[in-house]
Amino acid sequence: MLAERIGNRISELSTLKIKSNDYKTSFINNRRYLGNKYKLLSFITDVVDKECKEISSFADIFAGTGAVSSAFMDKVIITNDLLYSSYICNYAWFGSETYDQQLIIDYIIYYNSLSDLQDNYMTENFSDTYFSRDDCAKIGFIREDIEKNYKKKNINDRERAILVTSLLYAMDKIANTCGHYDAYIKGAEFDKTLELLVPLAEVHNNRNNKCYNEDANELVKRISADLIYIDPPYNSRQYCDAYHLLENVARWEKPEVFGVAKKMDRTKLKSKYCTKSAAKAFEELIDNITAKYILFSYNNMAEKGNDRSNAKISDEDIMRILGKKGIVKVFSESYKPFTAGKSDISENKERLFLCTITK
Ligand SMILES: C[S@@+](CC[C@H](N)C(=O)[O-])C[C@H]1O[C@@H](n2cnc3c(N)ncnc32)[C@H](O)[C@@H]1O
Repeated sequence: MLAERIGNRISELSTLKIKSNDYKTSFINNRRYLGNKYKLLSFITDVVDKECKEISSFADIFAGTGAVSSAFMDKVIITNDLLYSSYICNYAWFGSETYDQQLIIDYIIYYNSLSDLQDNYMTENFSDTYFSRDDCAKIGFIREDIEKNYKKKNINDRERAILVTSLLYAMDKIANTCGHYDAYIKGAEFDKTLELLVPLAEVHNNRNNKCYNEDANELVKRISADLIYIDPPYNSRQYCDAYHLLENVARWEKPEVFGVAKKMDRTKLKSKYCTKSAAKAFEELIDNITAKYILFSYNNMAEKGNDRSNAKISDEDIMRILGKKGIVKVFSESYKPFTAGKSDISENKERLFLCTITK
């Protein structure tokens, strides 16, 4: 079912005028992201197809990459994430505004042709850390140029979002890290260079799609959807720490950076779902939801891994909190957990808690 949905979409997109030897293309899943659910899409869509009736709107309120929303393109889509870097990618993929595909291609060919660039915010702060000096110069130049063209109204919001998404995905492909930006590998050879790809984003998305960038606990007080999907962080790893550099480039406020990992101030980006108050935050969230169904992703790591990887909300709390709202069914599928290899964990399962709202 899912393969068919995605297959249809890719064949539709491949009929667009974007085939050429001058550039490559990318899709929503061509980026690394902790806890992304791309590989679990069949599991998720099977549960929804079998259990949920008359769904015309889908809200992905901890959207991350937006991978889960990409399986619900036939519905009105609402996305949200606390990180601006996720928001801007979600707006690129799902935004209701149309865009000029040829314009995007022209910018990307031009950006890929650049060389011998001057120093800028990126070279001054990040040369030979996560990226080589030359790639830092290119990233800084491109990001500045996108902003300049946006201010001059040469590109609209969606075109800006698509170009920034292309840049963030290109950075992710070559970063001298193991997938997140808590540290870089000292003395590494920079053997890959920055290459922007053209994101295969639908030109005409549903006109009622909406993308938000705020705390999900605040957003649910103002929105409603037939199905609300909830995929918060499971453990104490803050996404703003893991992805500070992508967030920095997406926001482009050029803040001061600190320490060996060169992180900016992230005080306003910390998630309650990574702390001891996760259960309380979850309870407030669920109490304020207006929907027919709530679908909640959470693994079974409570008490199983090391302190950092342990899930923050217990199964008892999940069942009690969702149970106040309606009838709860649990579905599970085995998966490979994220650990640094320090703990012996068996039988890890990704679980979906489906709550059919009755109250
Ligand atoms: C497990 S990831 C979601 C992964 C996503 N389903 C995917 O497939 O890419 C959790 C996301 O929740 C976001 N987040 C954390 N706390 C949040 C909050 N209070 N409100 C909205 N988003 C939040 C994080 O920035 C992160 O992108």
